[in-house]
Amino acid sequence: MTAEYKVHGDVAVITMNNPPVNGLGYATRVAITQGLDQANADPAVKAIVVTGAGKAFSGGADIKEFGSAKATQDPNLLSVIRALENSSKPTVAAIHSVAMGGGLELALGCHYRIAAPGANIALPEVKLGLIPGAGGTQRLPRVLGVEPALNMIVSGEPVKSELLAQLPGQKLFDKMAASPETLAEEALAFARSVADARPLPLVRNLPAKHPQGDAYFQFARNMVKGMAKNFPAPAKCVDAVEAATKKKFEEGMVFEREIFTNLMFTPECRSLRHLFMAERAASKIADVPDDTPKRAIERVAVIGAGTMGGGISMNFLNAGIPVTILETKQEALDRGLATIRKNYEAQVKKGKLKQDKYEQRMALLKPTLSYDEIKDADLVIEAVFEEMGVKKAVFETLDGTMKQGAILASNTSTLDLDKIAAFTKRPQDVVGLHFFSPANVMKLLEVVRGAKTAKDVMATVMALGKKIKKTAVVSGVTDGFIGNRMIEQYSRQAGFLLDEGATPQQVDKAIEKFGFAMGPFRMGDLAGNDIGWAIRKRRAAERPDMLYSRTADKLCELGRFGQKTGAGWYDYQAGKRDAIPSKLVEDMIVEHRKSLGIEPRKISDDEIVQRLVFSLVNEGARIVEEGIAARASDIDMVYITGYGFPIHRGGPMQYADEVGLFNVVQAMKRFGQNPRDDAKFWQPAPLLAKLAADGKTFS
Ligand code: NAI
Repeated sequence: MTAEYKVHGDVAVITMNNPPVNGLGYATRVAITQGLDQANADPAVKAIVVTGAGKAFSGGADIKEFGSAKATQDPNLLSVIRALENSSKPTVAAIHSVAMGGGLELALGCHYRIAAPGANIALPEVKLGLIPGAGGTQRLPRVLGVEPALNMIVSGEPVKSELLAQLPGQKLFDKMAASPETLAEEALAFARSVADARPLPLVRNLPAKHPQGDAYFQFARNMVKGMAKNFPAPAKCVDAVEAATKKKFEEGMVFEREIFTNLMFTPECRSLRHLFMAERAASKIADVPDDTPKRAIERVAVIGAGTMGGGISMNFLNAGIPVTILETKQEALDRGLATIRKNYEAQVKKGKLKQDKYEQRMALLKPTLSYDEIKDADLVIEAVFEEMGVKKAVFETLDGTMKQGAILASNTSTLDLDKIAAFTKRPQDVVGLHFFSPANVMKLLEVVRGAKTAKDVMATVMALGKKIKKTAVVSGVTDGFIGNRMIEQYSRQAGFLLDEGATPQQVDKAIEKFGFAMGPFRMGDLAGNDIGWAIRKRRAAERPDMLYSRTADKLCELGRFGQKTGAGWYDYQAGKRDAIPSKLVEDMIVEHRKSLGIEPRKISDDEIVQRLVFSLVNEGARIVEEGIAARASDIDMVYITGYGFPIHRGGPMQYADEVGLFNVVQAMKRFGQNPRDDAKFWQPAPLLAKLAADGKTFS
């Protein structure tokens, strides 16, 4: 049963029981209404308490029903709320732990509400590109006041029950229980105290008013416009709450429903829902079931205290896991530690970290020059120079010193993990943990599964990824793994576009308008153009068939590595990061075109965006086809969390679905006919071609 019915003397208690968070799925909705019928038909029952079992009152809609017909099958949530309102006996919501979305809307349909302190109260629909759709925008302003309600609806953020209870004049909670433990008893007593109260109070009958109505909503609209950028839902939250103050209740409900339904069909909403599901899917590995035993990770060692080693260490310190960091020289160790300290001190200065927390974290960090001091670590992460010889020496030493069962991880970004694993006699314990720079900030963690990596190692590091608040995505072994293998194709397109007639600033502007945080040339200047140069030199030897524009090499030959050398694709003023278009670079590009005999043409922003994004899509499709990524949505997670792909587009693969795979394939065929481009690359990946031909999508 997904909701239990029990009578305690003269009070009936309906307890939602649909783990993990009592999602309001069809069966639960049916069970609640049946309980209500039963209670109203039983002359011995005088009042009804509705509550939740386990870890929540209710977390709202049941995500298992997302997008299915069951989600709206009657009794839908609106019908359940109506049944609660129309109950001839008083209904009391007893709220603890979590009341979110539909769960809060359900509580607002009850005649009374009693809450335990510490409960998280929220209407988070905006985070999925929606507004609350079962009366939340109409009822919450009536119980909290317009401003606090709108703040909650627009942000989607949870607020603690005890804070809401302190709002002057609030009618959200009729009573606060002393503690979560006493809530059940206090709810029964409260229900008895209102058993004879008539008429029964309804939130819908309360007024929703703001003393400066129009001026306030104007102000709210301006605020939201700045915040919401590419998303329509936040502004619609303002419209809906305003309607609560201006329309009759039932008209407001119709208005809310209309907005909700319209938003449901926007690409932005589809993208956010896609990413919500994608994040959950990414944590699953088909042949590694959830109940796979995990190794305990209580102590971590990091080899190399450079750019990455320091940032990686911070992740574990932040999670309260002790870290020993090993270097070859004292100076390097000192430098590494100083950087970690500086990073934390900056956070303390900004008020983001308390001094005592900072000290606690630093106390967990131990520097060393000796492998003897790390041999008992449960996990060691190597972040030394990107050279196979250095990795070999380190992994042979680790193999000889680390305790049995320790996980040996490499942060390599380009080297073959299986080769690294083969330096040890325990390749089953070797895994790639590819962090992104700055490693203490970036969400993405590519978990590289070697040919021999053990299943319990995979299960352990995926769980650990969650613990250190990363989005972990599994990648097979391939050059560049998922993210960098794709970005190489994107960079190649950016280069061809310059050869054909675009300027760096035109390319950057076009893709930034599409929504990327930074275009490829500004990005290159930030990361260092010499990195790509080194990769291209290696490619020239390994893959002479891979065509490149030579402009980026020419730029590097001029020593223009980017911000760190004060000049790159753009000019920079000392101490500033503003990218200033460079006459010198422009002349260099023009000169280069002449030498190739290219007559420059005007290139549209559309073509720029399509060539850049569809290059990601085609390589992404190959990556899925080869089994390097388990699913297309994993690629979207990589691009959203690691590469600044615009969230409202949902990732490259989701964007391709939105455009329509048929159209994507047509565009690729067109690009393949361009003599300055790489016809072979633009052959649609077989998976993509097949999906397009069958009228299907990646998702
Ligand atoms: P880095 O040059 O800043 O740091 C490397 C550190 O390793 C230096 O402090 C060096 O003294 C130390 N080291 C060298 N040999 C050692 C040894 N045998 N034992 C102990 N320590 C040793 O390099 P970075 O950027 O931190 O890169 C480290 C690894 O992370 C490389 O494999 C790189 O490909 C990878 N990576 C780098 C990213 C980046 O954006 N910098 C991003 C993702 C991965």
